[in-house]
Amino acid sequence: MKGRVEVIVGAQWGDEGKGRVVDAMANTMDVVVRFQGGANAGHTVIVEGEKYIFHLLPSGMLYSGKTCVIGNGVVIDPQQLLEELGDLQERGKDRARLVISGAAHVVMPYHKVLDGMEERLRGFGKKIGTTRRGIGPCYMDKVNRCGIRVEDLLCEDALREKLSFNLEVKNMYLTRIYGEAPMAFGEIFDQARTWGEKLGPYVGDASLTVFEALVKGSNVLFEGAQGTLLDLDHGTYPFVTSSSPVAGGACVGAGLGPSLVGRVTGVVKAYCTRVGEGPFPTEHKGDLGDALRERGCEFGATTGRPRRCGWLDLVALKYAVRVNGIHALALTKLDVLSGFESIPVCVSYRSDEGEDLPFRGNSPFLDSVEPVFRNMDGWKRDLGEYRSFDDLPLAAREYIRFIEEWTGVPVVLVGVGPGRDQTIVRGL
Ligand code: GDP
Ligand code: IMO
Ligand code: MG
Repeated sequence: MKGRVEVIVGAQWGDEGKGRVVDAMANTMDVVVRFQGGANAGHTVIVEGEKYIFHLLPSGMLYSGKTCVIGNGVVIDPQQLLEELGDLQERGKDRARLVISGAAHVVMPYHKVLDGMEERLRGFGKKIGTTRRGIGPCYMDKVNRCGIRVEDLLCEDALREKLSFNLEVKNMYLTRIYGEAPMAFGEIFDQARTWGEKLGPYVGDASLTVFEALVKGSNVLFEGAQGTLLDLDHGTYPFVTSSSPVAGGACVGAGLGPSLVGRVTGVVKAYCTRVGEGPFPTEHKGDLGDALRERGCEFGATTGRPRRCGWLDLVALKYAVRVNGIHALALTKLDVLSGFESIPVCVSYRSDEGEDLPFRGNSPFLDSVEPVFRNMDGWKRDLGEYRSFDDLPLAAREYIRFIEEWTGVPVVLVGVGPGRDQTIVRGL
């Protein structure tokens, strides 16, 4: 194959800065592909002071001459997608060609309602804290083989048949289990047909688009959403999302053979955050966590919820390196740590018996471990203007080297601010 494939994944609980890393890498790539998740994602890119938040569109949309692909593994809320497209068009920034897989599933209005209802039913202590974007219920239908795919929106008969069946079942749930009003067929059907008309011109064979691009020597970048620790299989189950954000998900979610994947880059924040419920061994619930949230502007790009904050967890990061086969790390938000006297980093999990334990994606286990911290020296200077690794304060360089030594993986990009130019590149 003449072209090369790069995969970018979140190495923590999402919001690591994948959008800005994709934006930084996209200028040397030709095709950018989303392969899982849906509008639960919020990927921020800041260019010349202008902010763009991508929920469903790949973060390569700002570049002209590129192709952006939404693969079969994504669940698409057409309303959200059309709004995003409309917003970009208004700003004159819908520069890339867009291809949407006909096999991607559609998040229907009842999925979003059911997402909220299921959370309500789970009740206190069991809530996942979902984004309520209908992600879980949509993937449930996909796995149950009754989901509606993008290609069904283009075919009136198929849509009518599938929607009738789905709505009959969903209305039973809504009325008999949740005590809610049923949803009307006509309104949803008409809306779905309108979506089909509007999205029709973009629908194509995403897998073939990627393959043909590689054959002719184009480079393809896969943009993961969420993060390793939110992975349905490998994350902190049940406090996870319903897709496979790990690198392996790229193959299934876009129709690409694993032998074609080249480099896997893990995006890691210089500390940790998490939105929603679930275990978080290095969380700091006091003033230092508040300081991280304030300095790092840690509020969800999709829901606006305050993110839980804590220190970098190298035990979890080593796990992410393993389950993704990460070759390189992109370290973001190093600038946020400026001004801390010392910076704790978790280097092991201790059991009650004093044993060091590896990470396991098991919620009660993670609630029970005692994180062991190593205190790294802090630095005072603002890093926003730095563009070279060698110029960084010694303590910041040592922080990076420590991560590299501990994980055995090189840090190839360092984020020192949210802007496109605020990156230090060390061998991308
Ligand atoms: P994603 O979901 O992984 O793409 O990340 P989000 O966009 O949800 O959250 C990352 C946030 O951090 C966004 O507000 C970015 O603008 C911001 N950000 C990314 N990299 C950096 C960085 O190096 N420094 C600072 N200060 N902010 C950053
Ligand atoms: P990006 O791509 C952070 C979290 C939710 C919740 C759990 C399940 O921007 O990194 P879901 O709506 O997916 O069923 O919610 O997953 N979550 C995210 N957290 N970043 C995201 O995306 C997330 N997408 C989902 O908060 O805890
Ligand atoms: Mg995000």
